[in-house]
Amino acid sequence: MLIDTHAHLNAKEFDEDRDEVIARAKANGIGTIVNIGFNEETIPTCLALAEAYDFIYAVVGWHPQDAKDMRDEHLEWIEELSRHPKVVGLGEMGLDYYWDTSPKDVQAEVFRKQIRLARKLQLPIVIHNRDAHQDIITILREEKADEVGGVMHCFSGSWETAKLALDMNFYISFGGPLTFKNARVPKEVAAKVPLDRLLVETDCPYLTPTPYRGKRNESGYVRYVAEEMGQLLGLSYEEIARITTDNARRLFRL
Ligand code: NI
Repeated sequence: MLIDTHAHLNAKEFDEDRDEVIARAKANGIGTIVNIGFNEETIPTCLALAEAYDFIYAVVGWHPQDAKDMRDEHLEWIEELSRHPKVVGLGEMGLDYYWDTSPKDVQAEVFRKQIRLARKLQLPIVIHNRDAHQDIITILREEKADEVGGVMHCFSGSWETAKLALDMNFYISFGGPLTFKNARVPKEVAAKVPLDRLLVETDCPYLTPTPYRGKRNESGYVRYVAEEMGQLLGLSYEEIARITTDNARRLFRL
């Protein structure tokens, strides 16, 4: 079996056929899904999904793109929700300098507050990083994120950045872009990450892997990421499945 460590199955893209998508994932050997809610609108629907399916877990937090909307009450709300039995981590949190929908200093403050909360609650964190490698590493270090660790979700950085994250007890997760022909750097990085720190994910409905690139992504497609990873590492699909499943269970205490 495989674990999709990062999904957004509560997204509106699945409103028409959510139950079928989830059933298809299960039928394709996806034994566990970690679903992410990241703002006022998606946290409740994320939790509802985790309550409806025994094999779906929830991670809750505040996305950097929505940082400008986060008030202290939201942080208290997230703290309260962290006691929910299906909540296994905090996020996705981090920095997004690509869309830049919230000022950088606001993003940084919201990121720091969530790391402090995760340390207080002793929960792993899920990191969203878009074009912000240097500042992400600096903040993780300054806020002592190594005390809780977590995952660099859909990692797209260099080996140097991966190494710094690994040194702070982070796992490195790869998604659909690993399967793209021109993804030279992610392929090189995936081949260097220690086996006990590798994870696979979809980030569905986004970042669809080959051969469905351009279409809507879904959790069942995480197998294409695992197959690609197996080829890069010279390991069988079964070995990748076992390794990444063990890793996800350890990180999220599943
Ligand atoms: Ni995401």
